[in-house]
Amino acid sequence: MSARRSHIVILAFFLGVLGCSSGTGGATGQGGASSNGGTEGRGGAAGTGGVTVSGGATVSGGATVSGGATGSGGVTASGGRVSGGTTSPGGATAAGGRTGSGGAGGASGAGGTSGVGGAAGNGCPAGVAGATTGTINNTGPWNDTTGKHIQAHGGGLIKVCDTWYWFGEDKTLNTNGTGNFHAISCYASKDLATWEHRNSVVTTSTDPVLNNVNLIIERPKVIYNASTKLYVMWAHWDMESCSGASGGYCDSEAVVFTSPTVDGNYTYVKHFLPGGNASRDCNLWQEPDGTAYFISTGAQGQTSSGTFSQTQVYQLSSDYLNVTNTTKIWANDTREAYAFWKVNGNYYGVSSGQTGWAPNQAAYLTSTGSITGPWNNSFTGLGPNGSTWSSQPTYVIPIVGSQTTTYIYASDIWNSSNLSLSTYLWLPFTFDGTKWSLTNSATWSINLATGVVTTN
Ligand code: DGJ
Repeated sequence: MSARRSHIVILAFFLGVLGCSSGTGGATGQGGASSNGGTEGRGGAAGTGGVTVSGGATVSGGATVSGGATGSGGVTASGGRVSGGTTSPGGATAAGGRTGSGGAGGASGAGGTSGVGGAAGNGCPAGVAGATTGTINNTGPWNDTTGKHIQAHGGGLIKVCDTWYWFGEDKTLNTNGTGNFHAISCYASKDLATWEHRNSVVTTSTDPVLNNVNLIIERPKVIYNASTKLYVMWAHWDMESCSGASGGYCDSEAVVFTSPTVDGNYTYVKHFLPGGNASRDCNLWQEPDGTAYFISTGAQGQTSSGTFSQTQVYQLSSDYLNVTNTTKIWANDTREAYAFWKVNGNYYGVSSGQTGWAPNQAAYLTSTGSITGPWNNSFTGLGPNGSTWSSQPTYVIPIVGSQTTTYIYASDIWNSSNLSLSTYLWLPFTFDGTKWSLTNSATWSINLATGVVTTN
C-alpha cells in the first residue's frame, strides 16, 4: 500500500468513527459545490454517523469541486456523504462516499435541480469545505480569535469532520516556573492557524479530586472510541509534593476523562498507575481498526522525582479506559515528550531527553513492526539545531492531502520563569528516504487539500 493510500485509509477510519452528531449529509444537495472528492476518503470503517439523508431539494449547483485523487476510504462504511461523488454533475447524482471509497471527485458541478444527497455516514455536515490553506507563524503571536495567548501547552490534536481540535494545558495562572493544574483547554480551527477557544474542558471544578493546589496535570491527549461513542482523554497526573517524598512530580500516574462531545465538559474517570508502573510524559496512539495504546515514561517504583527511565506502550481495553498488555520499548535513559507518526507501515516516535523545562535535542526511534515494536535501539537526532530550536515535542499532526501527507512536528517552547508565556513551534517533517529531519521556518504554509507545504 502506498504511503498516501495508507494514510488516507487511516484518516478515513478516524473520520468514520468520529460519529459527529448531526448527520445532515446532503440535506441541501449542493451539487458538487464543495465536494472534496475522495481525498479524505470519508466513509470510514464504522460508519456510525447519521441516518440516510433523502437529499436536498434545491441544489445550488457546484462550482469548485476539487476532486480527490484516490481516496480509498474506509472498510465497511455504510454511510459516507455527498463529498466524493463520482461525477457530481450539479448534485444530481452526488452519490456520496457510500462505500467510503472517496472517488475521483466531481469535475465542476454545473448546477442541477434535485440532488439526491447521500447517506450521512460519518455524520459530518455535507458540502462543508474546510479551509484550503493554513499558514503557521512560528514567530507568533500564538493568539486565539479573541487576541489571548493560546494556552494549550503539552497538547494534542484530533480532527473531527473538517475541524481540528487542540487540547492542552492552560497555564494562564502559572506565572512562575510552577506548573500546577488549573484547566485543560480546547481550541478549534479549520485552518490550523485561526484558533477559537471552545472550552475549558477540565477544570478544578470537574471533580472534587481535581480541586487540589498540589495537583499537576500535563500532556492531555484525546481519541474517539467508536463503540462507546465517547471522546477519551488521557494525561499525566502528578503532585507538586507528597508526604514522605521530596521534590515535585512525586506521584507519577495517568488520569482518564471522557466526554460525549469533543469540546464538551469532560468527566473525570480515575487516576492510577498503569500496569502498576509510574507514568509521566505520555501520548496516545490509535490504529485504523480502533485498537489504541497509551505510551508513557516510567516503570514500577519510579515515582520519585527524576527517576523515570523506561518507556512503556500499554494497549488499551476496548473502552479505552484501562490498560491491558504492557510492552517496554526503551530502558536506556530517561525520555520525555513522546509523539508518534506512521508511514508505510513504519512507526516513528520522537521524544526529548529529560531536562526539566529546559530544551534539548529531540530525537526519534523507528519501529518496522507495530507501535509495540520491534523498535530500533538508538535515537536519531532531529537536527540540525542542538536544542530543536528550544522546543520540546508534544504531538505529530498528520495532514492527509490529495498529493501527499505532511507530518507536522508540534512542540512547546517553554518559558521556565513564566510558564504562562510558553509558546509553540510547528514545523513540517521532511524525509529523504532514510532520515527524518526538521528545518526551522519562521512562517510556512500548508495546502490542507493537497498536503503540500510552501516555505515562505
Ligand atoms: C518536561 C515535561 O515534558 C513537561 O511535561 C513537564 O513535566 C516538565 N518537564 C517539568 O519539568
